Amino acid sequence: MTSIYFDHAATTPMRAEAVEAYVEAAAGGPHNPSSLHGYGRAGRGRVTAARDSLARLLGCQASELVFTGSGSESDNSALFGAARAQLKRGRDGIVTTAVEHHAVLNTCLELEAQGFRLTILPVDEHGRISPSAAEAAINEKTAVVSVMAGNNETGTLQPVAEVGELARKHKALMHVDAVQAFGYLQLDLRELPIDLLSISAHKINGPQGVGLLYVRKGVPFHPVIFGGSQERNRRAGTENVAGIAAFAKAAELALNERESRWSHAAGIRDELLRALSEMIGREHFTVNGHLEQRLPHIVNLSFPGISSESMLMNLDLEGVAASGGSACTSGSLQPSHVLTAMKLSQDRIASAVRFSFGLGNTTEEAVETAKIVATISARLRNR
Ligand SMILES: Cc1ncc(COP(=O)(O)O)c(C=O)c1O
Repeated sequence: MTSIYFDHAATTPMRAEAVEAYVEAAAGGPHNPSSLHGYGRAGRGRVTAARDSLARLLGCQASELVFTGSGSESDNSALFGAARAQLKRGRDGIVTTAVEHHAVLNTCLELEAQGFRLTILPVDEHGRISPSAAEAAINEKTAVVSVMAGNNETGTLQPVAEVGELARKHKALMHVDAVQAFGYLQLDLRELPIDLLSISAHKINGPQGVGLLYVRKGVPFHPVIFGGSQERNRRAGTENVAGIAAFAKAAELALNERESRWSHAAGIRDELLRALSEMIGREHFTVNGHLEQRLPHIVNLSFPGISSESMLMNLDLEGVAASGGSACTSGSLQPSHVLTAMKLSQDRIASAVRFSFGLGNTTEEAVETAKIVATISARLRNR
């Protein structure tokens, strides 16, 4: 039976080294980093080592990093925290894009419901915002600008550095959701005009349920979770010591292998596109998203005339795991808000399938998947 996992944008398998780091920390407990005794100090040591390592990888100070429970929590904390703090300075504007993950979009809508003024920047047919539209939207009343680095449905990259400069010019805070881009893009926070950055461990072969939020030194911030004084009073709750240790290990390896990860994923994507062109013909599918400004591990394809659900169900029956968009979007059968914002035709939107690649995948799997897609398309088209 075929078993091909082409859904790495949804979640990735934990790599052996991360599992090892996890087990080592979990088995080495019990350790509550807030406890003063030796067990607690050992736990605090692990968290400190992980934070130092992540800070080196990101080019920031360890004190600027807050561990959270997910990428979604990092996004929520960044936006609620910064928006509330900025309101005290008389700023009530939020600027974001139409293609953000729901962790950002729904948080912005909640802020709008609480009285903030929300501007959602449109995108072109490749899913990119225009810096001039961002420039027109950002002003001295803007509290926070939130633009993702790379899109989770199409892989399209956004001009975050350019928008960050605009935000800085108007003293607005710049938040970047780098959940999909981290591990593929070099994100040097010494250089980039970014004030807040969200990352999630399970997208880079680390564990689920661990996120990271970077808050630039001096940036005002209000916690979202209150309780103990963990994470320098920015996020209460006993740290996930083993998860944090495994996250740091996965991040270190992902960044050390950044260039080879990029070419590995791009190679599989290109092989899938080549094999599909050969087997079903270039006229029977379209690529959704930017063809150059993109992450290598995500490709969004439409097979006009075949619904996403039919294709995904048939792929699953044949042992190929892909997705209809973001995991929550595919579960609810809603048309993708990302492809809708790109103003693609209804047929293209209704027939879109996301393939995403990563550790363990091979070009042989890409060819095998193309064969399976060809068989499914022929069967469904002839019905
Ligand atoms: C771009 C982006 N932001 C945020 C998230 C949410 O991350 P998490 O699953 O860790 O909550 C995801 C997850 O798919 C994502 O792709």
